Amino acid sequence: MSSMLETRVQSLTTWSDVCARQELETNWGEAAVIGDAQVALFAFDDDTVCATAQSCPSTGAHVMSRGITGSKVVDGSQVLTIACPLHKEVFRLDTGECVSGDTPALQVYPVTIVADHVLVLV
Ligand code: FES
Repeated sequence: MSSMLETRVQSLTTWSDVCARQELETNWGEAAVIGDAQVALFAFDDDTVCATAQSCPSTGAHVMSRGITGSKVVDGSQVLTIACPLHKEVFRLDTGECVSGDTPALQVYPVTIVADHVLVLV
């Protein structure tokens, strides 16, 4: 494997330490830049933290961190959601699927908490 490709593969599989968990306000969004990606982070009462693209798939506007957190029952299961602040399309935070219309899915990113720090895989 060439060194350039090795570097690219490594960067695709590296968790980024974004912030301490307590820096995220519960039930509110925060924006972060990870490498070239603009990311929106959402923390919840049960300490779940979710990450999505900051860009709404409806128009490309970078607004998702100002969205409205919530939940919705989908196929009998309660799932966390985020509503875009502009036109209120609602997206699942686990899959990114739009549950309010035909808008393409919102990009979601894996999140893990290690030693009370939020790590995101972009
Ligand atoms: S910009 Fe997000 S739903 Fe229109």
